[in-house]
Amino acid sequence: MTGYSLDELRELMPEQLHPRYEYEKIKDYIVRKREGFGLKETVRLDFMTKQGDIVPAEITASVITEDNRKFSIDVARDISQRLATEKKQREQEQMLIHQSKMAAMGEMISNIAHQWRQPLSKITGILTNLEMGTLQGFIDKKEAETLIHEAFSTLKFMSRTIDDFKNFFSPSKPVEEFCINAALKEVISIIEPNLRFHGIRVLMKVQENIFLKTYRNEFCQVLLNIIQNAKDVLSIRRITDPKIEIRITAGREKTVIRISDNGGGIDHNAMERIFEPYFTTRPDGQGIGLYMSKIIIEKNIKGTITAK
Ligand SMILES: Nc1ncnc2c1ncn2[C@@H]1O[C@H](COP(=O)(O)OP(=O)(O)OP(=O)(O)O)[C@@H](O)[C@H]1O
Ligand SMILES: [Mg+2]
Repeated sequence: MTGYSLDELRELMPEQLHPRYEYEKIKDYIVRKREGFGLKETVRLDFMTKQGDIVPAEITASVITEDNRKFSIDVARDISQRLATEKKQREQEQMLIHQSKMAAMGEMISNIAHQWRQPLSKITGILTNLEMGTLQGFIDKKEAETLIHEAFSTLKFMSRTIDDFKNFFSPSKPVEEFCINAALKEVISIIEPNLRFHGIRVLMKVQENIFLKTYRNEFCQVLLNIIQNAKDVLSIRRITDPKIEIRITAGREKTVIRISDNGGGIDHNAMERIFEPYFTTRPDGQGIGLYMSKIIIEKNIKGTITAK
């Protein structure tokens, strides 16, 4: 390990076998060895080879007493291999942490992009209306103001979507008490131009004044996902008289929200997998809408979500 022969080693002082920065540790070690009776301890010390290279090592010292005389047996072990393995392990761990952070960030970005589809299309529609209306002169100031107001409130929803997913797993985010009807209205207003475009009617059987105390925006994101799925299937399957029905009933223990459509239902062989990440049967689907909804409902809102 050191490159010295046994005879050479016998002639050397400890200082000659170790780099200067280890001197304090060596002094301390020798003192403790003198004091210790039957002491057995392992010390981490760097050695310096005959060629001047540094070798990381571990010394195990055993002090034994025979005929009232103390002997010390020091065994030094080269641990460079072990340190290299540990370093590699640490690097791999760091890499895994980094990868999982990247994956979480990727998931956050896809969630935001997913939830922005409807509001983006709504804002595009509003701007198109404003442009055409202004150019052709059929829009008055009051109508323009209404459209601008709608665009702003949609932008606000988009900005809240970012906050939602940024704070997704933060335990300290605030819960609020809110009226389900108002939340539902807000969601419908975002997807409404798209529903109108496809001639989809929304029938609501909702008790008045049902209140929930939870994360309002995340709850809205789930409603948006489910209504969006209904809209997707109704337009893809070109259903005549397409409808979405929303029923909300408040019981003593729980509030039940049922959202159904007359699009023909979920494919029999897809049913088992619809909540899996990236499972989709649509050519342009990402397969994250229901996955995200299940996480929000079960992990964050502590409710249940099922499909039939
Ligand atoms: N209302 C519905 N009617 C029929 N099938 C549905 C309905 N809602 C969901 N599904 C099925 O569940 C699958 C998964 O839905 P999910 O919302 O997770 O992904 P997606 O809509 O395909 O893609 P995206 O990530 O854009 O939402 C859909 O591809 C579809 O097969
Ligand atoms: Mg979807």
